[in-house]
Amino acid sequence: MKARILRGGAILTATFLLAACGQKEIGYQADVQPIIKQYCMECHVEGGKGHEKSGLLMTSHESLMKGTQFGPIIKPGDSLTSVMIMLVEGRADASIKMPHGKESLPKEKIDLLKKWVEQGAKNN
Ligand code: HEC
Repeated sequence: MKARILRGGAILTATFLLAACGQKEIGYQADVQPIIKQYCMECHVEGGKGHEKSGLLMTSHESLMKGTQFGPIIKPGDSLTSVMIMLVEGRADASIKMPHGKESLPKEKIDLLKKWVEQGAKNN
């Protein structure tokens, strides 16, 4: 029984990887900005809590790529080491999981952000 469950998981993973390979291009305007508006903008606008504490504005592609007072939060092509992705996935300290103090993003939204970063985090 256990083996069957594991095999099911492997098939699901393989299907997901196959689907991910033939992916269409993710757009900053069409896909990324709506997620940021819904889940991040509240605090990462001029004078918002997140902006005040970290210096991070998420109101434009330019401000997003500039990052915090400590530097960029996105490394184009590399979602694994991009701080923004680490935080929405909860891979860093719980105190800075994003959105701050709220429920995590749905997995499909996280996947969109990841793919956009993997594809170069373009202003497209
Ligand atoms: C409810 C307010 C709030 C929301 C919503 C929010 N943030 Fe934040 N964010 C903060 C605060 C406050 C900080 C500063 C955290 C600290 O340093 O203790 C911060 C800091 C950050 C940092 C910098 C972390 C660091 O210290 O390097 C990143 C990156 C970040 N947020 C990304 C996001 C993303 C992406 C979203 C949307 C998915 C988001 N935030 C939504 C409040 C928020």
